[in-house]
Amino acid sequence: MPDLSVNFCGVRSPNPFWLASGPPTNTAHQVMHAFEEGWGGAVWKTIGEPIINTASRYGAVDLKNVRMMGLNNIELISDRPIEVNFREISEVKKRFPHNAVIASLMVESRRESWQEITHRANDSGADMVELNFGCPHGMSERGMGAAVGQVPDYAAMITAWVKEAATIPVIVKLTPNVTDIAHMAAAVAAAGADAVSLVNTFNSIVGVDLDTFSPCPQVQGHGSHGGYCGPAIKPIALHMVSSVARHPGAQIPISGIGGVGAWRDAVEFMLLGATSVQVCTAAMHFGFRIVREMAAGLDEYLREKGMASAMDLIGRSLPRIMDWGDLNLNYKTIARIDAEKCIGCNLCYIACEDGAHQCITSDARPAADLRHGPIPKHVPKILDDECVGCNLCSLVCPVPGCISMIEVDTGRPAMTWRQLQEARGKSPMCDMRDLLAKGGVAGD
Ligand SMILES: Cc1cc2nc3c(=O)[nH]c(=O)nc-3n(C[C@H](O)[C@H](O)[C@H](O)COP(=O)(O)O)c2cc1C
Repeated sequence: MPDLSVNFCGVRSPNPFWLASGPPTNTAHQVMHAFEEGWGGAVWKTIGEPIINTASRYGAVDLKNVRMMGLNNIELISDRPIEVNFREISEVKKRFPHNAVIASLMVESRRESWQEITHRANDSGADMVELNFGCPHGMSERGMGAAVGQVPDYAAMITAWVKEAATIPVIVKLTPNVTDIAHMAAAVAAAGADAVSLVNTFNSIVGVDLDTFSPCPQVQGHGSHGGYCGPAIKPIALHMVSSVARHPGAQIPISGIGGVGAWRDAVEFMLLGATSVQVCTAAMHFGFRIVREMAAGLDEYLREKGMASAMDLIGRSLPRIMDWGDLNLNYKTIARIDAEKCIGCNLCYIACEDGAHQCITSDARPAADLRHGPIPKHVPKILDDECVGCNLCSLVCPVPGCISMIEVDTGRPAMTWRQLQEARGKSPMCDMRDLLAKGGVAGD
């Protein structure tokens, strides 16, 4: 039976599934219910001087019939008194000693304020603290949240203050609204952070009402930029987690966040270097019960892979991520259409013809020909010699398994762009300052 538990900075959690700081972790009532459903841990809704929120505060992007593909919010940190939050953390910890409870903190950028709240977190019985350097709206205008997380020296300074006071591990939650999140992770790791969590939400405006001209969500007809999250951000978050995991200066545990809603998402984050994952939007959308399926799915996956522990997943895919210049240019795939499965919609032909490399032929009769009777199914043909193996036809095809990409032997040995440049006597690396000095250089 695989062991789903993970060890994060010495704190054991019965599984890698944690609730992220947000509305689902606002109260002891919610967190206890979540633990009963099977969540391994919870990061409390960020604790600090209580704030006043706006109505409304959430907006969403739907993708055809999929509701809340992306969620945006202009909500701030907890609106409940600090002492109430810490008292409830103590109660939760007493009732659920084996679940990970993390106190998320955000106060004004003064040493005394950070150390005072850290002492209170130590005393509350929380297993860890998470420093919220990430919220992109509302708090950042007050010099907190993303305002801290966007300046490496500033984030490092506050991390060091908290480390002086903390008796429990310190996680720093990073904002994705930076040029290079791995650089930020390295800065806080150097300042003593025990772990990082990423990502917080992305700066966004999710839409504009075409009748009232108000941005969404609106507050009396006006709006403000907010934080974007949910399934839409997962690919960007996955990349960011992997870039932190690969950074030699940031070799500390990672809690991966961004669009996780199912066990597969969690496994992807773990394969790219996360030890635990955090979930907010999916819990807001479907409730705490989703964790049951997540745990069952992970258990089954580990069995199938013959892995004894969820910890075996961590970073397994990292060696497979490389610079573009190290990919084999002589590896070739071409598309194959399964004529049985093809419904003759011709979408692959149109996409390839107009949007890619003109490697598919079709003599399908136009729809107007319907006047002359039913149109026989036409299966487009791949021009094997022309096909560049880009995948587009298989991505647009509406029939699962109809177009597959098959490997073809080119007979040529593996060769990378880096090797090619070296053979040409050219450097594969480009010094941008040098280019700037020369006024730019044309060519490859
Ligand atoms: C309504 C809302 C409120 C949030 N409040 C907080 C917060 O108080 N502290 C924090 O660190 N992150 C907060 N977040 C960000 C989440 O913890 C998480 O980083 C983000 O939503 C990405 O995860 P997801 O795609 O699973 O939602 C909030 C997110 C939402 C949607």
